[in-house]
Amino acid sequence: MNAFDLTGKTILITGASSGLGRQTAITASEFGARVVITGRDADRLGQTYQSLKGEGHLQFLADLTVQSDIDELVASLPVLNGVVHSTGISDLAPARFITSETIAKTFRISFDASVLLTAALLGKKKLVKNTCSIVFISSISTRYPFVGGAMYISAKAALEAYARVLALELAPRGIRVNCVAPAFVRTPMLDETAANYSQEAVNMIEARQILGLGDPEDVANSIIYYLADASKWVSGTSLVLGGG
Ligand SMILES: NC(=O)c1ccc[n+]([C@@H]2O[C@H](COP(=O)([O-])OP(=O)(O)OC[C@H]3O[C@@H](n4cnc5c(N)ncnc54)[C@H](OP(=O)(O)O)[C@@H]3O)[C@@H](O)[C@H]2O)c1
Repeated sequence: MNAFDLTGKTILITGASSGLGRQTAITASEFGARVVITGRDADRLGQTYQSLKGEGHLQFLADLTVQSDIDELVASLPVLNGVVHSTGISDLAPARFITSETIAKTFRISFDASVLLTAALLGKKKLVKNTCSIVFISSISTRYPFVGGAMYISAKAALEAYARVLALELAPRGIRVNCVAPAFVRTPMLDETAANYSQEAVNMIEARQILGLGDPEDVANSIIYYLADASKWVSGTSLVLGGG
């Protein structure tokens, strides 16, 4: 018996059209899961779909900042043994330039979307008792902040606090809730950060990661642990994937 095997499990992955969500979907399918992937960009979501191993997978377009999209998505879903929340944007601004719009924009996708999707999944009883595992992607920056990241990091800190409460509330149903908190990983988000912010700042942060930049597989493999029965006694945690 392989405690990391996902055969027979159906896993929803948000943000699956790119980066960590895409790789998690591919890796989960390689471990035997049936995956349900969602994102906004049809072409890129389709590319992920084409890369999945096995059969029976599903894909749905949805903007998770729009409540009607969340409701339609949840109504279309089968019951789930796992959920991975991998949406996010890298929207950085020094503290003096933060406005109510900046706060709303970042929180809407980095916090509200995951919280509201979870509420809808619970409301519609889509999470299977005693086997379901929920994983949120936080960031190591909640422990090691970087200049300009006030809103991004605050939203991730809020998400981690929310996840701990959720773990407490769902434990009686045998539903587990955990976070992974990666350092810098090679994804389109990192390219965007370098382009919009500064390549020098990214280089400096990379130099602090003694094992270098992460690859999406490094994060996906840790998420597989949380989705699998290997972690059936683990809830309310946040795993730092810091590249040392
Ligand atoms: N890369 C890193 O170094 C790193 C480090 C720590 C934490 N993280 C976190 O890991 C998560 C994934 O990051 P990534 O690097 O994979 O980023 P990415 O490649 O930019 O992917 C972001 C994903 O979020 C989706 N998304 C954005 N806005 C959305 C919306 N309104 N509705 C639905 N989906 C939406 C995108 O979908 P569309 O493109 O289809 O719109 C895309 O699939 C994020 O939460 C990020 O903060 C990343």
